[in-house]
Amino acid sequence: MALKRLALVGAYLSVEVKGSDEAPPLLFIHGFPFDHALWRHQLAAFTGWKSIAPDLRGAGASSVPETPSSYSIAGYANDLIHLLDALGIEQTVVCGLSMGGYIIFEMLRRHAARVRAAILCNTKSAADTPEAKRDRDALSVMALEAGSDAVVDKLLPRLLARATFDHKIQTVLEVKRMIACQPVAGIVGALRALRDRPDSTPSLEKIRVPVLAIAGDDDQIAPGAGMEEMAGAIPGARFARIESAGHLAPLEQPPAVNAAIDGFLSGLG
Ligand code: MLT
Repeated sequence: MALKRLALVGAYLSVEVKGSDEAPPLLFIHGFPFDHALWRHQLAAFTGWKSIAPDLRGAGASSVPETPSSYSIAGYANDLIHLLDALGIEQTVVCGLSMGGYIIFEMLRRHAARVRAAILCNTKSAADTPEAKRDRDALSVMALEAGSDAVVDKLLPRLLARATFDHKIQTVLEVKRMIACQPVAGIVGALRALRDRPDSTPSLEKIRVPVLAIAGDDDQIAPGAGMEEMAGAIPGARFARIESAGHLAPLEQPPAVNAAIDGFLSGLG
């Protein structure tokens, strides 16, 4: 395993890179408000791949621009294209969770040739409703006034499955810690990016790479039924529903998620 800090256009990204340079690349894109540790079980499992797991700008150990206007879904996607350039990678499989999925939609719109296949975990294609946009702004104010601990209290109840709260206290604590250590400016910037993201639904039918969509059966943020419908709109997409998983299925049910990813990757040839 190697943690690299790479200077890109407009940001430094901290990136965990694992596996041989000769192995096919697999880029993991975390959601909000997390960092690359969200993928720790997958980084441990996919040893036949060159796994690349960055902290997005404003998250983890990456640089944290102070102005919210420095953050957008297109900007995150551009950072990742610059990251692939810096690592000399022409094309990669991408695996993103929630906001990571929104970023994949952007990559597919603007940089489709860089994407070999896509794994969309716990995500959705629709833009925010007016009410959801107001909630983003309210959470930004709360984060600025009360810090990331207040963000933990607000978000946690909807992030994890009932089964995780009941039986996996270590996972609950891990998620709390991960959110609590995210920089407030990065949280506020990401909320702006999320609030202003485009509706990706019209572009689903234009996707031309193999896709696997993975849903949690107890995900309150990107419910399984909506994800199944989304997968149905993507030509040839596969769909997997993970039992006893909420919005963070890769962290809550790693064996089942890894089995779904493994089956998909094996079929890529
Ligand atoms: C995420 O996990 O990235 C967030 O739930 C995305 C969102 O709030 O839309």
